[in-house]
Amino acid sequence: MDLGQFAALRTDEGSAALDAAVRVAGGDPLHAAATLRAAGVPAGLAAAALTQAELRRRATGKFGPEARGMFFTRPGLEQATRRIVADRRARRLRAAGVATLADLGCGLGADALAAARTGIRVYAVEADPLTAALAEANAHAAGLADLVSVECGDATAFDVTRVDAVFCDPARRRAGTGRRIFDPNAYSPPWDFVVGLAERVPYTAVKVAPGLDHALIPAGAEAEWVGVDGDLVEAALWCGPLAEHRRRATVCKEGSPTNASCIAGVPSLHPGDGPRVYQLTGQGTAEAPVGPVRRFVYDPDSAVVRAHLVAELAADLDASLADPSIAYLYADRAIPTPYARCLEVTDVLAFSLKRLRALLRERRVGRVEILKRGSALEPERLRRDLRLTGDQPASLVLTRVAAAPTVLICQPVT
Ligand SMILES: C[S@@+](CC[C@H](N)C(=O)[O-])C[C@H]1O[C@@H](n2cnc3c(N)ncnc32)[C@H](O)[C@@H]1O
Repeated sequence: MDLGQFAALRTDEGSAALDAAVRVAGGDPLHAAATLRAAGVPAGLAAAALTQAELRRRATGKFGPEARGMFFTRPGLEQATRRIVADRRARRLRAAGVATLADLGCGLGADALAAARTGIRVYAVEADPLTAALAEANAHAAGLADLVSVECGDATAFDVTRVDAVFCDPARRRAGTGRRIFDPNAYSPPWDFVVGLAERVPYTAVKVAPGLDHALIPAGAEAEWVGVDGDLVEAALWCGPLAEHRRRATVCKEGSPTNASCIAGVPSLHPGDGPRVYQLTGQGTAEAPVGPVRRFVYDPDSAVVRAHLVAELAADLDASLADPSIAYLYADRAIPTPYARCLEVTDVLAFSLKRLRALLRERRVGRVEILKRGSALEPERLRRDLRLTGDQPASLVLTRVAAAPTVLICQPVT
């Protein structure tokens, strides 16, 4: 989509085409295009409306029903912060007393809108003219135009003395190809500018890739890793007065609401965040005890592992590692926790395909899920090589115990 096509979509004719496109989106694309053409929609407008309708459909997973009134580009949607994460960040900024915020590289505006929903006045800057226009339209659609102004320009030139706080979510994909950028020095705005913001504005928050190298975390900043329904979605740096802990793992349960009051032994649950967001905090330097495999194995959420908070979780669960370099935890009790999945270990075998196959046949196991940490085996290849024929389910954990390749046969804990 270019600016001309976007302008066309916002006319009365364009809105009607978009409404028609929404009705046929998600089905056969050729049939959808033919339906719009048959209704008299010009080819260019039909293509733009169908693309937009398809993006809105996909965006519902990130934004919920609000996506129906928003405008997207494919790269903008891929890079946008999902609603549950943006809302949390915004509430945290608001709770820290932030009243005015610069969103430097605002994209389609997901973070800017979330901040505005808490009452923060947002000055959003976006270098790409089409993306800036879409962010502005999205602020209008959300009824937040009074609180969000979008400027098309270079974020590095923004006068940060005008605001209480800055947020920056640098582009981590190459414009044009959409390829991921792994080197922070190639981010846009560049990494030096991004981390330098904290020296100019004490209240600085930055969104970064979850693969962030811990060595890049500025001294004194809090680094947070966020997981949603088991997917590690982002890391964030909280600087100056916004830093509350050295490390934080935030685990959001969006798909399956959990009743927090049922979860025992979760001392770091943040009551203000509602029942579906859990936060584990700590220094990120402690080491968990090492011991034998025990009756239960816990597979910690990736946010906990990336935040280096496995030792803190081990302390909560009275658990230990079986290998100092592998993040599976073992304990005698199954304690419900939002930070890890728990399985009951029924067998522990030094890895041997022949012995594993024989044991699974003896148990009539026909369906396996395969988890692995510290194993070079390929789960799909192993599944094929096992040639299972039974009707019982089992979970296999491929790992190392005291450096030896090991497989645990497990059953889920209900
Ligand atoms: C990762 S996206 C932001 C996504 C946004 N937080 C959201 O959730 O919708 C980064 C954006 O920064 C913009 N950008 C990159 N360099 C910039 C610069 N120097 N000035 C302003 N914007 C820039 C890119 O065009 C891109 O839209």
